[in-house]
Amino acid sequence: MNAPIPKSPSATPAWRALSAHAARFADVRIADLFAADPQRAQHYVCEDVGIYLDYSKQRANHETLDLLFSFARQQGLDAWRTRLFGGEHVNNTENRAALHMALRAPRVADFRDAGRRVGDEVQDVRERMAAFAERVRDGEWRGATGKRITDIVNIGIGGSDLGPRLVCSALSPAIDGPRPHFVANVDGAELHQTLSRLRPETTLFVVVSKTFATQETLANALHARAWLISSLDIEATAQHFVAVSTNEEAVSAFGIAPDNMFGFWDWVGGRYSLWSAVGLTAMVALGPRRFDALLRGAHAMDTHFRRTPLEHNLPVLLGLLAVWNHNFLGCASHVMAPYAQRLSLFSDWAQQLEMESNGKGVTRDGLPVDFQTTPVLWGNVGSNAQHAYFQMLHQGPAVHAVDFILPVFADHPFRDMHRKLTANCFAQASALMRGKTADEVREELQAKGLEGDALEAAIPHRVFPGNRPSNMLLIPRIDAFHLGALLALYEHRTFVESVLWGINAFDQWGVEFGKQLTKRLLESETEVSLDPSTDELMRKVQFYAR
Ligand code: F6P
Repeated sequence: MNAPIPKSPSATPAWRALSAHAARFADVRIADLFAADPQRAQHYVCEDVGIYLDYSKQRANHETLDLLFSFARQQGLDAWRTRLFGGEHVNNTENRAALHMALRAPRVADFRDAGRRVGDEVQDVRERMAAFAERVRDGEWRGATGKRITDIVNIGIGGSDLGPRLVCSALSPAIDGPRPHFVANVDGAELHQTLSRLRPETTLFVVVSKTFATQETLANALHARAWLISSLDIEATAQHFVAVSTNEEAVSAFGIAPDNMFGFWDWVGGRYSLWSAVGLTAMVALGPRRFDALLRGAHAMDTHFRRTPLEHNLPVLLGLLAVWNHNFLGCASHVMAPYAQRLSLFSDWAQQLEMESNGKGVTRDGLPVDFQTTPVLWGNVGSNAQHAYFQMLHQGPAVHAVDFILPVFADHPFRDMHRKLTANCFAQASALMRGKTADEVREELQAKGLEGDALEAAIPHRVFPGNRPSNMLLIPRIDAFHLGALLALYEHRTFVESVLWGINAFDQWGVEFGKQLTKRLLESETEVSLDPSTDELMRKVQFYAR
């Protein structure tokens, strides 16, 4: 058994050693690290499950990595990995396991919750989902008036929305079933806009909510049902509504029969639930075979994460480097830069994954942390992002860590454009690292004929500090298998960070408080006072007069 983990990671020898190393490293330039190690571009890479990670453009050398691996060992990462896969209740504040890996494992895999094998139940639900998906896709499952289902609307929010929404968008060329739509926001504009394109007779709603108590989801579902009933009748609900939830009672109370419900379990966290029945809309749209490929890709990454030594482990490397950049080098945020239009929703998904999981202010034991936990994670697709905020990444005073993600092969016929996309992606990563000195700028401008005061005045605006760290992740293409692997990679990276910080990545108590206040505002029979500013705003919008 490992020695007990000290209370705050920041008070440990490994953290102190990393801090001292970071101080010594303050003036080290990545370009110098390349000069010192001609093989750096070959050494600082890691590849498995078709994903190639080049981390040579990080501000890190062998000593950094050794210290980071020591930190991981000190924090018991090996043991935590075993606990996670072993079904221990790693979500200590809710006394739950986090067994999302069981959802993408073959039936024979021995995942257990409280000693009980979960594989059979998981497989049974997956088979029910597949049978249902095939019936809808084949036209055997029809609407109340006998028409085929042409459109499927996923109603859910957070983890009950972002995963299937991303998958349907990323794999959109492969959609050969009913057209998928997603409604999440309690702003009725989203539902209204979606319904305005649909016909009740040919639309199927999938109401997805782990708790079946989420205000936004229930409001959307109730309005969708009213829309359906207004042109069909109440009995039509049975043919046009199915539910995905862990709460059978609430699903029945809503009027959806247990036969039309697909269950999952409390050991599946919302933001880790894509692989469960929460993926039903994606499965109907893409077909069970492709959904299986998504699960296989994620399972392959699980196996990699579980079995590979820390030094060659993709999620471990990503997690350690993220913590190095954030806690020791002082990077201001973490930018996702997928150079792939079809990953345009990747950052939205990753935001919930990372910031809901690791946006914590206390350790697992409830002690306040005295270091930063999750960085702000944000971003959008390249090359668009280059024309929005990359200026800041190149020249702003704060340094931001970047993950570039690039599919090697395109799935469209415009090959020259994929070459251009690739060139943009590689050039940005290189520019962030190299920067440009005043001397280089001077030479460039002189070659263009600039001289004297005009030359000197122009120089500072064209200097780039460089030395800005990034990862480059190459995936062969955006197919179901590699998408599954990529998402599982980031899930495990999130877990690795949480272990390093000593926090629980699987609860989300911080979301509750705002929900409680909303409820108070909506459910009180008399006027509610929250604070003077809010009270004034309520008067301004005539909240109680509506
Ligand atoms: O945002 C809080 C949260 O609980 C997320 O964790 C979850 O994904 C989302 O709300 C939706 O919850 P549910 O699936 O229970 O409707």
